[in-house]
Amino acid sequence: MPTTITVCDTCKRENWDPATDPKTDGEKLAEMVEQAASGTEGVTVRRHSCLMGCDHGCNIAIQAEGKLNYVLGRFEPDQSSAEGIVGYAALHAQSDSGQVPYRTWPQAIKGHFVARLPVLPPASEPE
Ligand code: FES
Repeated sequence: MPTTITVCDTCKRENWDPATDPKTDGEKLAEMVEQAASGTEGVTVRRHSCLMGCDHGCNIAIQAEGKLNYVLGRFEPDQSSAEGIVGYAALHAQSDSGQVPYRTWPQAIKGHFVARLPVLPPASEPE
């Protein structure tokens, strides 16, 4: 089951100025994450407009069925963030539970976790 990185493409950080910057910070981060993930086994990227964490963007989510899922925020739209996000997603993809040992976390994702969502129980069969 691949790990999906969902990047909010409408996030705008405090200093974003629409007069001088045609792309939102989220769009910029999404482009960099897509590029960094290209060819990374087990990792896919999608965009979504607003993850409801607008006051602490840029925001992303790391998800896979049957695994712990995570929401992360406060990213700068830069290469270091993009590579850290993809590196963490690759480790998440390799983990059976979605738990990634702290000692292996890329430096760029430390301090960016907002929420951890436990695995949903399997859907019960209709009676
Ligand atoms: S605009 Fe990105 S979380 Fe709302």
